[in-house]
Amino acid sequence: MVTIRRERSSDVAAREALLDAALGPSRHAKASERLRERRLPAEGLAFSAVERGRLVGTLRLWHVCAGAAGAALLLGPLAVAADARRRGIGARLVRRALVEARRRGHRAVLLVGDPPYYGRFGFSAAKTRALTLPGAYEPDRLLALELVPGALDGATGLVQATGATDPRAPAATASQEDDTLARAA
Ligand SMILES: CC(C)(COP(=O)(O)OP(=O)(O)OC[C@H]1O[C@@H](n2cnc3c(N)ncnc32)[C@H](O)[C@@H]1OP(=O)(O)O)[C@@H](O)C(=O)NCCC(=O)NCCS
Repeated sequence: MVTIRRERSSDVAAREALLDAALGPSRHAKASERLRERRLPAEGLAFSAVERGRLVGTLRLWHVCAGAAGAALLLGPLAVAADARRRGIGARLVRRALVEARRRGHRAVLLVGDPPYYGRFGFSAAKTRALTLPGAYEPDRLLALELVPGALDGATGLVQATGATDPRAPAATASQEDDTLARAA
């Protein structure tokens, strides 16, 4: 049986190994990673899927500012272990996260991902056309779901990280900081 529960600190090593296996080392170069690096996920919105004591899925949500639309969440990365896929674990993680995000009063969720997968949860690019992310990404893959109708009406501008800084994260190197500033410019 697969259980979806809040992520624990003891999950971190297995979660990172799962993300490396599922997404490869290039995951750290993604535009959405620029909004997550050295931040903590949103309170209560980091989830693990566990089967017989083994971590088989992971999903976290992050605080961002969606340009003029204001506070929103960024969903991802989502990954399920290769030998556990197509059993609905990814969908359970997403649905659990959206239920909890709504319960906590969040208004909208953004992500960078495949429209054919995320469309089933209601995500689309309908309200993201005028939003931009720091770094390179495919605009058609910037998707959003309003938890409160109209939350992203008139959303324009740069999506920026607003989450608390992770005190355990390694300090940024000078070149990383330059890079971040250059991307945000
Ligand atoms: C995407 C992922 C999380 C889905 O996990 P999962 O537990 O298999 O998902 P579910 O069981 O809920 O759904 C599986 C269905 O989604 C489909 N699917 C998976 N990835 C898809 C994609 N990128 N685009 C469209 N459909 C996709 C599967 O073909 C399957 O279809 P079926 O129901 O007709 O068989 C998993 O495939 C994974 O970890 N992939 C590698 C990492 C990744 O791509 N993460 C998402 C970043 S955008």
